[in-house]
Amino acid sequence: MKLKFSALAAAALAVTMFATTAAEAAKIGVSMPTQSLQRWNQDGSNMKAMLEQSGHDVDLQYAGDNDIPTQVNQIENMIAAGNEVIVIAAIDGSALTEVLKGAKEKNIPVIAYDRLIMNSDAVSYYATFDNTKVGRLQGQYIVDALDLDNKTEPVNIEFFTGPTDDNNVNFFWGGAMSVLQPYLDSGKLKVPSGQTTKEQCATLNWNLEEAQKRMENIISSVGYGPEDTPLAAVLAQNDACANGVTNALLATGYDNTNMPIITGQDCDKPAVKNIVRGYQSMSVFKDTRTLAQQVVKMVDAIVNGQEVEVNDTTTYNNGTGVIPSYLCEPVAATKDNYKSLLIDSGYYKADEI
Ligand code: GAL
Repeated sequence: MKLKFSALAAAALAVTMFATTAAEAAKIGVSMPTQSLQRWNQDGSNMKAMLEQSGHDVDLQYAGDNDIPTQVNQIENMIAAGNEVIVIAAIDGSALTEVLKGAKEKNIPVIAYDRLIMNSDAVSYYATFDNTKVGRLQGQYIVDALDLDNKTEPVNIEFFTGPTDDNNVNFFWGGAMSVLQPYLDSGKLKVPSGQTTKEQCATLNWNLEEAQKRMENIISSVGYGPEDTPLAAVLAQNDACANGVTNALLATGYDNTNMPIITGQDCDKPAVKNIVRGYQSMSVFKDTRTLAQQVVKMVDAIVNGQEVEVNDTTTYNNGTGVIPSYLCEPVAATKDNYKSLLIDSGYYKADEI
């Protein structure tokens, strides 16, 4: 009897622990950009699972493969279907102004997920990683790995950024340049392709093949190769770009004994495998579980009429004013720490890498 009671009490406690923040259940819309990149699949499924654990009813939609009209349509339907909060990872941060007028009219709070939604006063909150820090981690990795402070001869670098319609790209770029610009100015870092602006280095939809093609073109125009013009580093803003760059360099004859420093972001499985093999130098780990968890907390607080936890009220102005934000911490991942970051934490199983 006693045993039965304590088992019941434990179960009740577990239920209260799960339900502490979610007294109310609500209909929640979640709009994700694409299933063609691993991270968005994880973001979507983590969020759905956690929101359901909080008792909510979740309408999770992926917008084909980064199809903007599809995303607009799906959001329109979420508004019409009476969702009480809508969470959106925008494809094009500036393409949702019109559709979100409907959310504003119906007083439906919108949370911008990972990427800020621009020019809309319907956006109530923003949850993301510290995007400037992502760029700084990539830039600093290059400075340290090339020992730039002690180098006397100039070395060559190329840049691969994301699409110009992703607002995060501006912050990744700003963060990286806050570290690298002095070396570019002093001539320690040279960019032989001459492509030095984030627009010139952009990769449509963060597409791997686009990055690969651009790297192939740069290789042939500059003449990079293990026995030819030396390439010291490629700053790739995410893993898909890094992967495209790596493929192009492997095809030119580079291997894990002479591969340039290549950065990335997201710790996608193929990138982590490349890090282990010595093809890619680092990635930036953004634990999608943490971001999803934070957004679920925001949703629960909104639904329950409680104060929403934010930790940044100055950085992210979307053109209608500063959006109260919660920034999660990104961490540099390398061959040395990937096991503790990714395997021991349960993010991946050892055999997936
Ligand atoms: C960015 C995001 C990155 C990366 C990229 C590709 O907006 O912050 O982590 O995943 O999109 O989808």
